[in-house]
Amino acid sequence: MSQAMPQSYETLLVERRERIAIVTINRPEKRNALNIKTREEGAAVLEQLQDDDDVRVVVITGAGDKAFIAGADIAEFAGRTALMQRAVMLGRSLFTAIDVFPKPVIAMINGYCLGGGCELALACDLRIASEAASFGQPEINLGIIPGGGGTQRLTRLIGEGKAMEMILTGEIIDAQTAFNLGLVNHVIPADQLAAKTMEIANRIAEKSPIALRLAKEAVKVASRSNLDEGLRREVDLFALCFSSDDKNEGVRAFLEKRRPNFTGK
Ligand code: COA
Repeated sequence: MSQAMPQSYETLLVERRERIAIVTINRPEKRNALNIKTREEGAAVLEQLQDDDDVRVVVITGAGDKAFIAGADIAEFAGRTALMQRAVMLGRSLFTAIDVFPKPVIAMINGYCLGGGCELALACDLRIASEAASFGQPEINLGIIPGGGGTQRLTRLIGEGKAMEMILTGEIIDAQTAFNLGLVNHVIPADQLAAKTMEIANRIAEKSPIALRLAKEAVKVASRSNLDEGLRREVDLFALCFSSDDKNEGVRAFLEKRRPNFTGK
């Protein structure tokens, strides 16, 4: 069952399929380039979805069959001063909103995934790519560098040598190469991308939302702290699970040899 969300956005489509919300960047004529409006609407929609207990997982994708997101809207760069650009970037960040979003976010990458598009995918928790997708950080070709977390998140995900090469050459790589680098979790034939993504999203959506939230937080600590701090945070977050009904339900269901019914309490 699919239903449109009540609120409408200029640059986004938002629909619900049971416990999954699908956010589609809807500027196909501009290859879904991220302009200021898209970033603002993206952050606003996440705020709305965060408070909706019926939404367990968010999928982000691009409209049309060409692009996931072809990067920041380059037209907006023209004539912008350093201070203007800084103010834009210090404003509410869509990348940070995804990073700290308390539910899993999956990037369903259906085409060009470049620059800020690749950075947005990197801020997501899982990246599922079509065989037709391509990836790159081509900012260097414009005389600039990645500014949406690319130098940091790409490096943490695939390692300094590979990230350095992508960022210094601006080279575009295909989906299989991205998979080999560990940049994406799965590469799927284009006509099966949506079905496979929904299958994974639904599998995650069955879990306890509390455990999902704490698991996301714990995993993210790994690349932001040393091992001792990370292990300590993990213990705290693990122990926090014991305050939930879902933990009691999960353990009881196992012992009673039945499927758990997690309520998010
Ligand atoms: N910002 C603004 N507009 C963009 C854009 C971007 N990042 N990417 C594409 N577009 C626009 C094009 O300017 C064009 O607009 P127009 O029809 O008004 O001329 C339209 O989207 C279609 O792009 P086009 O280049 O004709 O499509 P394509 O399918 O042949 O090529 C790309 C697609 C993505 C390879 C190519 O558009 C591209 O290289 N884009 C820029 C990628 C980039 O450098 N991103 C990092 C930005 S920091």
